[in-house]
Amino acid sequence: MKAIRIHSFGGPEVLKSEEAPMPEPKADEVLIKIYASGVNPVDWKIREGMSKERFPTNFPLIPGWDVSGVAERMGEDVTNFKRGDEVYSRPDLTKNGTYAEYVAVKASQVALKPKTIDHVHAAAVPLAGLTAWQGLFDHGKLKAGERVLIQAASGGVGSFAVQFAKWKGAYVIGTTSGKNIEFVKSLGADEVIDYEKEKFEDRVKNVDLVFDTQGGEIQKRSFHVLKAGGRLITTVKPESNDESKSKHIQVDGYMAESFPEDLHQIAGLIDLGKIKPIIGKVLPLEQAAEAQRLSKEGHTRGKIVLEVVHEA
Ligand SMILES: NC(=O)c1ccc[n+]([C@@H]2O[C@H](COP(=O)([O-])OP(=O)(O)OC[C@H]3O[C@@H](n4cnc5c(N)ncnc54)[C@H](OP(=O)(O)O)[C@@H]3O)[C@@H](O)[C@H]2O)c1
Repeated sequence: MKAIRIHSFGGPEVLKSEEAPMPEPKADEVLIKIYASGVNPVDWKIREGMSKERFPTNFPLIPGWDVSGVAERMGEDVTNFKRGDEVYSRPDLTKNGTYAEYVAVKASQVALKPKTIDHVHAAAVPLAGLTAWQGLFDHGKLKAGERVLIQAASGGVGSFAVQFAKWKGAYVIGTTSGKNIEFVKSLGADEVIDYEKEKFEDRVKNVDLVFDTQGGEIQKRSFHVLKAGGRLITTVKPESNDESKSKHIQVDGYMAESFPEDLHQIAGLIDLGKIKPIIGKVLPLEQAAEAQRLSKEGHTRGKIVLEVVHEA
């Protein structure tokens, strides 16, 4: 099959378009014919060798861990999918990924894709959608009526987080740059702060939950806006300081998990028209290096997706 692979860590130039062996599904796996693959910051972080402790890598490696496609063949123990099912998934990050024509994924990480959107839009959902869902609801325990500040509200994770938090009935505040203010409002945010013009901590206070995707100084400054006893949940490295300790703020980081029941719930909300995956850019599979270069710039609106099969 056609695939994009790396044979060593390095810059975008290590991504090679080449022939790779067809994956053989194990007993508990589904072989998926890939229509589209989402692109996420973890793709270039793994390519650069930044995450090798967390995600041990065997070369050659096919990157990309977001897929929408069609179930082609099932391992003998798989009973919940059949050939032809349209599915989506966030596969295991320690195995070959989805910048390819086929991927074998554990059936326990697969769900039926939303019916009302195409594969390009569905491939934008699993990794970022699961991250926003679990960060807000499982770790952040966000409840209706609470105030939540979402850092980087226009990004892959943030654009889902704004919509999920609004759907839950929270009061949603987001940060982004000037060019994305109207966009973040259109996702449902009640207030949007332009980080180029204003310090969010000068405008926001009494927040119950900060959902942070930026880390570092932005994360530390977020302690100012939280109520005593508030929560800060981060997709990157959690840190605490004197302020977080004296205000008894709960600070937690987490790795999103590939729970099919969450994918199922998210698909349901998409099919009800409550949630929309946002696509910033679609590129053909061969342009994976360009997709990762854009992702690393850190200013994607919504998601970048690689199209593997062009749907009529
Ligand atoms: N722990 C996990 O399981 C997990 C899962 C997914 C992602 N992550 C991590 O979470 C982070 C975010 O992922 P992502 O996919 O959402 O990234 P992304 O889509 O690349 O984020 C880009 C967005 O960040 C915004 N941004 C940049 N600087 C900002 C600032 N100073 N303040 C506010 N917004 C800013 C940009 O808006 P402008 O263009 O307007 O600047 C852009 O819309 C990454 O580090 C990723 O690796 C972790």
